[in-house]
Amino acid sequence: MPDQLALEFPVDDVRRRFPALERAGPFVFFDNAAGAQIPDTVLEAVTDHLLARNVQRGGPYRQSREVDAMIGRARESVAAFVNACGADEVAFGLNATSFIRAISLAVGQTLGSRPEIVLSDLDHEANIATWLALERAGARIVWWRARVGDDGARLHTADLGPLVTERTRLVACTMASNATGSLVDVADVAWRAHAVGAEVFLDAVHYAPHGPIDVQALDCDYLVCSGYKVFAPHMGFAWCRREAINRLPTFREDFIPDVTPDKLEAGTYAYENVAGMEAAVGYLEHLGRRCHPGRATRAEALRVAMTTIAAYERGPCMASPPPSACATASRRCASAWRVSTRRRSRQALRDATSVSAAAICTRRG
Ligand SMILES: Cc1ncc(COP(=O)(O)O)c(C=O)c1O
Repeated sequence: MPDQLALEFPVDDVRRRFPALERAGPFVFFDNAAGAQIPDTVLEAVTDHLLARNVQRGGPYRQSREVDAMIGRARESVAAFVNACGADEVAFGLNATSFIRAISLAVGQTLGSRPEIVLSDLDHEANIATWLALERAGARIVWWRARVGDDGARLHTADLGPLVTERTRLVACTMASNATGSLVDVADVAWRAHAVGAEVFLDAVHYAPHGPIDVQALDCDYLVCSGYKVFAPHMGFAWCRREAINRLPTFREDFIPDVTPDKLEAGTYAYENVAGMEAAVGYLEHLGRRCHPGRATRAEALRVAMTTIAAYERGPCMASPPPSACATASRRCASAWRVSTRRRSRQALRDATSVSAAAICTRRG
């Protein structure tokens, strides 16, 4: 039985906000584990940026000051999305992987008497290879292995007991496995890591489109995400606890201040896509207010949006479609499916017909 939140999800109105769905005709975008489509307001924000202020930030003229202001607003928006303590804890860049690399390189220079990095074997390669590269800097990798049960492969935080010690510098793990979809109790990971003085690095890329993120409640130290999974164009962002990132020797040019967020933003990045990220958060906020009118704060509206999406994805989004829809969908879906990937795409843009495509294509994959 779908819960009340799931029943309130306005799927038809939501689909109308995505011009790509209209333009695609019968084609089903089923590869959304690899990236989402964008709502109309994101497209408008990117276009407006490129037409009105496609210039470098930091200049003493109007258009450049507008870029600075837009980036400031985008930081505020993403800070609300992850419930950060402040907008200065949010940095923008290319993608999650490049942020993992930048932060891991800095962590590698601060191992000291804590040479051990705990990694899970259920993580995406981006959150494994980057840390494995630190072995050259003297790091020792300690593996947190998934257990395979009736419900598939899962990471059990109790298994961290003997792995996390006073020799641990950091535990890096995902919030949700991109291979199996299983969730990780990352608040418990943080509790265990902090109990021995270690830090926690979270990969939110797979989880972010499917539920609320609250870095304060999770009590993590670093979190990376790719905006294009959450309705923005191709770009990434990192949230870092202010005190943690300010202690790290990140790579930066001499003229860049040694404080967050500047110290994590090497060179120029795609400002138009940051404008898109800002609009994507606006879209989610609007969805939250639509689902539960009268909610006061932005962070609360975003939490409602993501909680409602999660409920919808657990319920009606994955409900069985009528057989006629299955037949049509099987013809439409094949071109959208990458046979090489086994991960399942689930997203709250689905109606009954496209869900049937999901069922059929998952069997093929
Ligand atoms: C869980 C997870 N982590 C990291 C990544 C890497 O993301 P990006 O290529 O945006 O750096 C992905 C990509 O799909 C992913 O699913």
